[in-house]
Amino acid sequence: MLGPVILAASRSDKMRRFVSAAPGTKQVVARFIAGETVEQVVPIVKDAAAKGLEVTLDVVGEDITTPEQATAARDAYLELIQHLADLGLGTKAEMSVKLSMFGQALEGGHELAIANVRPVVEAAAAIGTTVTLDAEDHTTLDSMFAIHEELRKDFPQTGCVIQAYLFRTEDDARRLSEAGSRVRIVKGAYKEPTSVAYQDKAEIDKAFVRILKILMEGDGYPMIGSHDPRLIAITQDLAHRAGRKLDEYEFQMLYGIRSDEHLRLAAEGHRMRVYTAYGTDWYGYFMRRLAEKPANLLFFLRSMITK
Ligand code: FDA
Repeated sequence: MLGPVILAASRSDKMRRFVSAAPGTKQVVARFIAGETVEQVVPIVKDAAAKGLEVTLDVVGEDITTPEQATAARDAYLELIQHLADLGLGTKAEMSVKLSMFGQALEGGHELAIANVRPVVEAAAAIGTTVTLDAEDHTTLDSMFAIHEELRKDFPQTGCVIQAYLFRTEDDARRLSEAGSRVRIVKGAYKEPTSVAYQDKAEIDKAFVRILKILMEGDGYPMIGSHDPRLIAITQDLAHRAGRKLDEYEFQMLYGIRSDEHLRLAAEGHRMRVYTAYGTDWYGYFMRRLAEKPANLLFFLRSMITK
């Protein structure tokens, strides 16, 4: 019951101010956010590489309200890519981006988002890596998939995310299953209406498995974004049945969540990519992590009281 309430709060400015100023917040945020600056996140990329893990880096931010903020988002990613290039880490780290941070929701936003994200994709390709477009709420997805298709004309490695909770996703998975396509499947983290999405956890899990089957039997490169032990075991089974080798799909998990599992899967020979978020605009990302596991909220509230 708490999840939807927290997700509603994730879009409230009043709650944003309250949570950001609350005592103890920083300590809890640090579990999910790898740092505030690019200098803080680079050692984490190095450490992950030393442990046999790969990363996808997310400069946190979303739902910006001015074109200047969209330009700043582009520049933050370009700065990150320059750092990775300087340190020779280009092949160990890819980027994840939210198009709402690149201006997608502003007037003329579709074009603005393309104009801002294209230089990032270009710069990533120049250092031997790539970008995945995160999936946000369902109203943004037609635009996201169109931008994905547009970018893939010049940068076929560009990935995108599909969400198992949406009724539309089986069709999207079929469309995206062609050779060369890189697709991350996740359960879905936004508050969606009953008209477009399953609400029941068991229904979402069943849809996840149906979509996983489509991806595994298709010709693309599936990226499994989940911490759910049952879905991880099913992924391994379906990959085996589809005759996929270990380098023909990958697992992805979030920084700070089930870190022992990151290492276990990597030790088994799987490619494991850790989605590593950093930056100062962490509110929306942080609230979705609280919503996924209400025990996190209790921990957060306790840290406020004991501070
Ligand atoms: P589930 O929520 O059932 O969790 C399984 C187990 O994992 C839990 O029992 C718990 O142990 C642990 N766990 C999960 N979440 C936790 C948390 N927040 N804190 C502590 N433990 C937790 N969504 C989206 O809508 N668009 C996107 O682009 C992305 N991108 C993305 C990338 C990657 C790499 C991952 C792993 C996830 C996303 N997501 C996402 C989020 C995704 O939709 C989903 O909300 C979370 O992954 C939680 O779902 P699980 O599949 O982990 O299962």
